[in-house]
Amino acid sequence: MNENNKIPICSKASPEEMAEDLKIFIDFQDEGLSLENLNEIIEERLVPHLMRYDQPGFQSMFNAFPEEGAEFGGRIALKYNQGVTNWQVSPGGVMLEEFCCEALCKLFGFPSNSDATFMLSGTYGNQEALYLALHKQAEKAGFNLAEKGLKRFKDSSRLAVLTSRDAHFSVKHAVRMLGLGEDTIEFLAVDENRHIDVNSLKKTIKDLEDKKDIFCVFITAGTTSTGSIDPILPIAKICQERDIWLHVDGAYGFAYSLVPEWNHLFAGAELADSVCWNPHKQLGIPIPNSLLFVRRWEDFGRMTLYSAYFNRKEDPEPNPGLKSPPSTRPFAALPLVTSLRHQGMKKVIQRLRAPLVAISTLFNNLKEECDIELCHKPDLGILCFRIIPEGFPKEELDQLQRYVFDRIIADRERTISLTKLDNKAVLRVVAISPAVTSEALMETIRDVRAFAREYMSEK
Ligand SMILES: Cc1ncc(COP(=O)(O)O)c(C=O)c1O
Repeated sequence: MNENNKIPICSKASPEEMAEDLKIFIDFQDEGLSLENLNEIIEERLVPHLMRYDQPGFQSMFNAFPEEGAEFGGRIALKYNQGVTNWQVSPGGVMLEEFCCEALCKLFGFPSNSDATFMLSGTYGNQEALYLALHKQAEKAGFNLAEKGLKRFKDSSRLAVLTSRDAHFSVKHAVRMLGLGEDTIEFLAVDENRHIDVNSLKKTIKDLEDKKDIFCVFITAGTTSTGSIDPILPIAKICQERDIWLHVDGAYGFAYSLVPEWNHLFAGAELADSVCWNPHKQLGIPIPNSLLFVRRWEDFGRMTLYSAYFNRKEDPEPNPGLKSPPSTRPFAALPLVTSLRHQGMKKVIQRLRAPLVAISTLFNNLKEECDIELCHKPDLGILCFRIIPEGFPKEELDQLQRYVFDRIIADRERTISLTKLDNKAVLRVVAISPAVTSEALMETIRDVRAFAREYMSEK
């Protein structure tokens, strides 16, 4: 326990100790265990090893414990276990999902012609967006990608996606899965706050004019490493002028557009061709909960596959399974709507605002501190920094960040992350849950300093 009697964020068990605790679960016996028995085993042997996302010390990733209303909806979704694909499988589930997509398009200010589909994760949302973009490129070249595939492109080595150096690695997964390969991606320079530099984008587009066919500009509204929001509006205009598909990866950040003081950072999102968003991150909706929005509902037609027994063309009822691939999909709309309805939008916005305020307060507190190098001005709930004690040798700085990170993680009172920016090791704190206050973040800085002193004294 730490000094405030907080629950440790996770046990300190080594992989070997954990294996010892967990092996009982795979000891499949002829006779079963009662639920009481199972519960005891779970509480004793599994729960201590699970990460407590609800604790103020959890400052490393985008996970969240379920919000009360979301957990309630999640339990009902589990109880009835609806596979929300088409009317035959779950009329109520299908209708609620379609209603929810429509309402979310309105809530986020997408045009009246827009639509959305629930996805299993942001990774798949980004992949579907790239597929739609590629399909459009094929249409420009006069063929149907779904039927003819990549081989019909005259020269598929000309196909290019532009994105920031800081884009999430799911963009690489997407081009791999689409059979394009990672060298399809042209990485763009970022400015000092790690946003795509619009001038560098313009220059890259110009430089590639005769060499490449840019079929998608993939930008991020809340990058994974720093939470930076690429300048959506100017990039949307550039894409519209050149008829290039614009995808906004808002998996982490998009919900924060609902907070009035932060909304201006998302200006232009309504002009994007597609946007992805993960309510399973900052909203605390049970995993999996992810959405892909498109500006024109017809675009989902490029995903549609009919089958004689399941998704019949002539069936007039709503059919979410025509908009994205999973043929069995979870009832993800239910926990999302129960969460929003239970809290009310006022509380939802308060919940979203809290971590943003905590990180901006931390940034202001640290601005004048000589031993902390801030790597960017935060747009959202993430801050990357380096501890640089006075007179510390430059060549050992990466090692020092690594040491501090390892010590914090080993202590299990809090968790932060270690990443690289411009090839330098940096420490990263993330606020997702409202429990992560600026005070909790300052405690982390206190520990960072203490472990840096420990490193120096051991040298
Ligand atoms: C910006 C961004 N895009 C995409 C993803 C991938 O989302 P998922 O983990 O749901 O696949 C993440 C995950 O952290 C992310 O931060």
